[in-house]
Amino acid sequence: MSETRETNLSLTEWAVRIMNTADANKKLTHHFADIWQTGQISTVGTAFPPDRPVRSDSLEVIAPGKAVKVGKGGTLQSRVAILHALANVEQWAIDTALDNMARFRAYVPNRCVHEDDPEPGAAAVERNDPGVAGGRATHAEEIEMPKAFFDDFVRMAAEEAKHFKWLNRRLEDLGSYYGFLPIHSGIWDSASETSHSALCRMAIVHMVHEARGLDVNPSTIGKFSASGDAQSTSMLELIHADEVSHVATGRRWFAWLCDRQLGIADPAAQEERFHALVRRHFRGGLKPPFNEEARREAGMEKGWYEPLAEVYVPKKERGDGEAGGVGMEKRRVPGKRRDGRRKGKGNEGEVL
Ligand SMILES: [Fe+2]
Ligand SMILES: [Fe+2]
Repeated sequence: MSETRETNLSLTEWAVRIMNTADANKKLTHHFADIWQTGQISTVGTAFPPDRPVRSDSLEVIAPGKAVKVGKGGTLQSRVAILHALANVEQWAIDTALDNMARFRAYVPNRCVHEDDPEPGAAAVERNDPGVAGGRATHAEEIEMPKAFFDDFVRMAAEEAKHFKWLNRRLEDLGSYYGFLPIHSGIWDSASETSHSALCRMAIVHMVHEARGLDVNPSTIGKFSASGDAQSTSMLELIHADEVSHVATGRRWFAWLCDRQLGIADPAAQEERFHALVRRHFRGGLKPPFNEEARREAGMEKGWYEPLAEVYVPKKERGDGEAGGVGMEKRRVPGKRRDGRRKGKGNEGEVL
């Protein structure tokens, strides 16, 4: 067994080690999952994750808004670009699952985060992010998350690694490779935005971004099916099934944290908390149409996401004084912002 496969590391040390491994093919995520699932890792530990996972120098990282247009799947070039974009998402998803375990290994009951904390480091002990200036501060009242939390995110990390491997292999089958196009780090931007709170992380990364994946997957799968690429089609169908379970995992731990950390056990109040967090930490509304069936399977009934949907309002109905407006404008559903907070400010209340 090579040095990199040593088994005397804690769970969080493994998570950090893999996040700091640039080459997605050398992350040993499956080995890590194997030794966790067979009881060969005995402690969770306290290793703290990096601000940003390491990426290979050979990858060109660009801003999300500059991402290459992948097209509609009508050509091989477009389908390869779609597979490349999906592989990029999977690579970040591996690290996000690992980060969840290391960053949110423990929580402090009844602690709420004031979003306008001027000194995040000083306030960190009041959050369930116990990292301070590169080290780990611990809080006397902190409670380690249950083993089921780590089991779930180890499984998720392994499945994301499997998805990346499949997509990478399919790119090679089609004469391409991962890294031939620039990549963006939009997923990690959302992970950073939610690094102060496990509850926020579950809401934004798993119940908004991953749920959005459920909405668009059928259309993507349809493009490959229509092109006669049966191999990619069946691969994407298997990935979709796993992603339903990832949204369900985020949804389940969101409810658990609401209950155990904040004492919010009422499902309707949990839903309200989710809406408040999304309005604060996710720019814009959620984009319909929604894959209601897959979302329901993941435990997200309409009440979770419909109040956050963006709608298109004809400019002539906006009543904002713009004469002769043509076209449409994106808006949230009117009247659904019940918390009354100003977006991006948040000094009117506390949200964890
Ligand atoms: Fe995935
Ligand atoms: Fe996922």
